[in-house]
Amino acid sequence: MLSKPVLSSNHISNYTVEKLIGYGGFCNVYKIREISTGKTYAKKEYTNLNFKISDIQKEIKINKIISKCDSLYTIKYICSNMENTNEDLDEKYIIFELASKGALFDYLEIKNKGLSDINCKIIIYKVIKALQVLKANGICHRDIDPQNIFLDGERYQIKLGDFGLSEFIYDENGNKKLSKSKKGKKNFKAPEMLNGQKDDEYDGEKADIYSIGVLLFVLRICVYPFLKTEFYSIFNEDEQRYWKIINELIEKKYNSIIEFDPQFKDLFKKLVNPIPSKRITFEEILDHPYIKEVTYANEAQFSIYEDNLIEELNSRFQF
Ligand SMILES: Nc1ncnc2c1ncn2[C@@H]1O[C@H](COP(=O)(O)OP(=O)(O)O)[C@@H](O)[C@H]1O
Ligand SMILES: [Mg+2]
Repeated sequence: MLSKPVLSSNHISNYTVEKLIGYGGFCNVYKIREISTGKTYAKKEYTNLNFKISDIQKEIKINKIISKCDSLYTIKYICSNMENTNEDLDEKYIIFELASKGALFDYLEIKNKGLSDINCKIIIYKVIKALQVLKANGICHRDIDPQNIFLDGERYQIKLGDFGLSEFIYDENGNKKLSKSKKGKKNFKAPEMLNGQKDDEYDGEKADIYSIGVLLFVLRICVYPFLKTEFYSIFNEDEQRYWKIINELIEKKYNSIIEFDPQFKDLFKKLVNPIPSKRITFEEILDHPYIKEVTYANEAQFSIYEDNLIEELNSRFQF
């Protein structure tokens, strides 16, 4: 006999499904409304039968750790029917707080026009703040991209979500643990994830920093820095050739449409250093001249920056 799953105290009992708001390779995400309270949530339903229960359980475990931190910059976990069961239930889902303005990716697609430097700075700042919360809890994200950065409420609060590929940084003895899984979106992956053998290990935190580099580029110009066909060839070449490609990318390739700020170029290069140990750290990113004006802005200035971003996102809003 199947045992009834025990649900967390936040369990959402009766709700109506309003609409499909997103999907991934393994899931559909719906906007739902709790009948008794009228509150809305996002329900992530796993559709792929090959998806491992242990992976969902890990996603729940990580979400619960992060939700406890009560950070402004991360999506909150509400409940799941998989929380206390290992049974292969017909329906498998997780309910999250709803980011009412959707994913950042949608806003980049709409205009296909990059964001201003100041808007890029504030987004990167907030994503780094989210990653610092993860790091403080011994977790790396490993799937940073604009489809996993959500916007919430009238002020388009930026929140990092989708911890489905996230991983613990330390083992049970507190020793640094390396990652093996090479899953994630190719466009955003660090060279050490693309190269090498299937079981080669890499530092997940450093890989996240590389993805921030790709994110920064995509935000600024709405183009991926590397073409799919280039991935393996670029990274398998020697380091000198890698830097030649990077320099062409920021100095020549998009000359006709954009002149990158010198500090943007400097930060981008530091983020996408092909040698993980030489990559810039979270603290150094916040202290970098490109980001600094946001990091050290006083409250009034910070909300002016936020208003500016809200205005831009509002002009792109299309739901
Ligand atoms: N909490 C949420 N609020 C609003 N939209 C969401 C939320 N969670 C997911 N989505 C939408 O669903 C998409 C897929 O969800 P995600 O958790 O990223 O799944 P996957 O693990 O398959 O990438 C997101 O890119 C986004 O468009
Ligand atoms: Mg996702």
